[in-house]
Amino acid sequence: IYPSADQACTYVADAITDLVSERNAAGQPTVLGLATGSTPVRLYRELIRRCQAGLSFQRVITFNLDEYYGLSGDHPESYRRFMQDQLFDHIDILPENTHVPDGLAAKDEVFESCSDYEAAMREAGGLDIQILGIGRTGHIGFNEPGSGPESRTRLVTLDSLTRRDAARDFLGEENVPRHAITMGVGTILDARQIFLLAWGEAKARVIAESVEAPPSESIPASFLQGHPNCVFCVDEAAASHLT
Ligand code: F6R
Repeated sequence: IYPSADQACTYVADAITDLVSERNAAGQPTVLGLATGSTPVRLYRELIRRCQAGLSFQRVITFNLDEYYGLSGDHPESYRRFMQDQLFDHIDILPENTHVPDGLAAKDEVFESCSDYEAAMREAGGLDIQILGIGRTGHIGFNEPGSGPESRTRLVTLDSLTRRDAARDFLGEENVPRHAITMGVGTILDARQIFLLAWGEAKARVIAESVEAPPSESIPASFLQGHPNCVFCVDEAAASHLT
């Protein structure tokens, strides 16, 4: 629990910096799982600052958690666009090393596209560090309530609360896509280290449920309790419902 989101982000940026520096020195890649949304923006700002200070991302490979289904990478609300704007365009990462699920995969090719995404992660050596936010439904990635701990990358239907929370970005709930492609809970749990970030009072209830209630499909983030190396990094407001 940190006094501010900035301090929490410094802690996570330090962990990323340490690993990337160590791998760079050994001439090896670092594989990062990344999230979008408002929560990781400060972390990405800090990583940009560190890149400007000399940390190279040329050996970093990234896989994003999710993408809205039906949006192309240049749609202003697509998660590919978000990542370009908030991080990739400001660091020296190689474009071919950045991966975001394909929101335009044809319906009959989605299954294959999702298994290709999983295969690419495996071929890269698996995720070293996964960054997560959390939705008010308890989702991680877009694994809404009902998602099991074994779930893998797939096409999902978004919860109505998630669509309502996204309505402002899309200028109206009716414009928010109904489906998304997301890494599964099982995909996320395969990461060697996980940092879940959450700021503000609006996340307090779901943080308490994720950490303190028995793991269940009604709060998919609660399955993180079973991960051997997962840290929830929260500010005081997001921690305010913890007992
Ligand atoms: C984003 C993602 C989602 C968000 C969550 C919180 O890639 O997978 O799980 O992390 O919806 O969103 P914000 O940070 O906007 O509150």
